[in-house]
Amino acid sequence: MEKMGEWQKRFQSKELAKFDDKWAASSNQEVVDFEKLDDYASAFQGHDVGFCCLGTTRRKAGAEGFVRVDRDYVLKSAELAKAGGCKHFNLLSSKGADKSSNFLYLQVKGEVEARVEELQFDRYSVFRPGVLLCDRQESRPGEWLVRKFFGSLPESWASGHSVPVTTVVRAMLNNAVSPSGKKKELLDNKAIHDLGKADSSLTP
Ligand SMILES: NC(=O)c1ccc[n+]([C@@H]2O[C@H](COP(=O)([O-])OP(=O)(O)OC[C@H]3O[C@@H](n4cnc5c(N)ncnc54)[C@H](OP(=O)(O)O)[C@@H]3O)[C@@H](O)[C@H]2O)c1
Repeated sequence: MEKMGEWQKRFQSKELAKFDDKWAASSNQEVVDFEKLDDYASAFQGHDVGFCCLGTTRRKAGAEGFVRVDRDYVLKSAELAKAGGCKHFNLLSSKGADKSSNFLYLQVKGEVEARVEELQFDRYSVFRPGVLLCDRQESRPGEWLVRKFFGSLPESWASGHSVPVTTVVRAMLNNAVSPSGKKKELLDNKAIHDLGKADSSLTP
């Protein structure tokens, strides 16, 4: 058997997510093997709107695994969504994404943004948040430190560089249900805060 990377093993041992009962009753979950995504093309068919929040870290997956997930898996998912009829594709990217960056993370984010754009969705929304604020089960010391740092700063400064994940979800949903004449939208951290305000029409 071919030697597997940690990130591949993690996928194979992944269990079905536990669904909230109410949501499960009105939704359908498909489990796919990202290494054989073509075999699951049917799971990508017939959806008007696609949201991609996939990503890993170099610390977890190594440089090669990071590129595989954050570029290859994302791009393949977008290609299948497009082939399946998706009109509006939403990509969770990152503040500072830049395909010419010297930093692998920002370079890969910029590259995948550009390559998904080439697929020519009717509408393409790219979200570029700062640090995502949430309570994680897994240990991410870097993010923990950044959160502590932001916590000690004035709210206005911190909100310029970070955003709660619940705000991101609201922003993505609110944006998706709002008509737009633009083929491509680039939503930075501030736009995400504005779109995701708690009193907006949709809540996650
Ligand atoms: N964290 C931040 O501060 C930050 C800031 C800006 C942008 N972003 C970007 O926002 C996105 C989400 O980030 P996050 O930190 O919220 O990540 P996260 O909580 O780890 O979620 C990432 C998702 O990708 C899935 N995934 C990762 N590796 C996989 C693999 N090998 N096979 C299948 N699925 C895999 C995860 O599945 P499991 O749940 O099963 O692990 C999870 O659903 C990423 O694209 C990230 O680059 C993050």
